[in-house]
Amino acid sequence: MAQQRTLSIIKPDAVGKNAIGDIIARFEKAGLAVVACKMLHLSQEKAEGFYAEHRERPFFNDLVGFMTSGPVVVQVLEGDNAIAKNRDLMGATDPKKAEAGTIRADFASSIDANAVHGSDSPESAEREIDYFFAADEICPRG
Ligand code: PPS
Repeated sequence: MAQQRTLSIIKPDAVGKNAIGDIIARFEKAGLAVVACKMLHLSQEKAEGFYAEHRERPFFNDLVGFMTSGPVVVQVLEGDNAIAKNRDLMGATDPKKAEAGTIRADFASSIDANAVHGSDSPESAEREIDYFFAADEICPRG
């Protein structure tokens, strides 16, 4: 599989638990390289835009409220099969259903506060990376 990029967000609950380093170590150990990274406190507008496709879902306001409740770390991960690899490392959306050893099983406390986001397709990865990073903020590995 060719090199691929995906967007990862370490959410406010995991940042609040001081788990940034532990989570990034899992990406790196799995062969994903961090090629862009920034810490942000999302505005209401930025979070609503990011999750616009979920606007009609019943949890939309809770999701936006949670994502604006504290700082997040937004990264671009690069590697072989990066989108699926990151989703495997993350585990299921609901931590109660997440496989043992996944990030959500180990760091998430509920479906609302579920530690990480990861792009779910090449199309969403492209859109999400562009949403947070300018081209010159991404530093590809040789
Ligand atoms: S996914 O991963 O996109 O397939 O999951 P999905 O079920 O479609 O959920 C989309 C995002 O909404 C979050 N979510 C919730 N937030 C708050 N409350 C409830 N009940 C809830 N259910 C789902 C879920 O974590 C997804 O956010 P991201 O940031 O994409 O992981």
